[in-house]
Amino acid sequence: MRISMVQDQIERRGIHDEKVLQAMRKVPRHKFVPDHLRKYAYADEPLPIGEDQTISQPYIVAYMTENLELESGDKVLEIGTGSGYQAAVLAELTDSVFTIEIVDVLARRAERNLKALGYKNIFVKSGDGYKGWPEHAPFDAIIITAAPTKIPQPLADQLRIGGRMILPLGDFSQDLVLIQKNELGITQQTLLPVRFVPMTGEIENK
Ligand SMILES: C[S@@+](CC[C@H](N)C(=O)[O-])C[C@H]1O[C@@H](n2cnc3c(N)ncnc32)[C@H](O)[C@@H]1O
Repeated sequence: MRISMVQDQIERRGIHDEKVLQAMRKVPRHKFVPDHLRKYAYADEPLPIGEDQTISQPYIVAYMTENLELESGDKVLEIGTGSGYQAAVLAELTDSVFTIEIVDVLARRAERNLKALGYKNIFVKSGDGYKGWPEHAPFDAIIITAAPTKIPQPLADQLRIGGRMILPLGDFSQDLVLIQKNELGITQQTLLPVRFVPMTGEIENK
């Protein structure tokens, strides 16, 4: 099912980075969804994971990952661990993945699950990701998997020069946005319309 998922939902829609496709073929998505939804794990849609949160659609996971253009050795920060699935895909492509989840029960569950699956290069923190993870900054890439209405400044600050950040931006109407940082500042490119759960916490007061 996973092989067909990659072929039919991901390759067919234009994702061609072989390393990303390989990661999507490898990570057992059914181990990241609640037991009663396992039969839908390879369907072309997001699924509920409890606490009113979701695991993103496989295509979107692949698309966001491809746009980060990761190289082995890169240090990646994810905001919105959720099930831990996106973190696992990233961890197949790079050396270290730092991921922060604001819902404590999800953070702990993801950490346990990732450990049980043998991932040693993923570091999970429970808390608000708005301020990033300064002790490990700068990051080569940052991915936000919940939608803020503006770019969280501390995260842009923790991106290395030359680094890439991808996030859904907006409230009711959202676009996936790619940020690239250079010596002069950041450039912003709108990629495609999406629908993510909102980023909560400190960003809501900004
Ligand atoms: C669409 S889900 C993430 C899917 C996840 N990447 C996966 O692979 O399962 C978005 C997650 O972002 C979390 N979130 C929202 N605001 C956050 C914040 N300020 N800091 C950290 N996590 C946050 C939500 O609790 C939710 O679990």
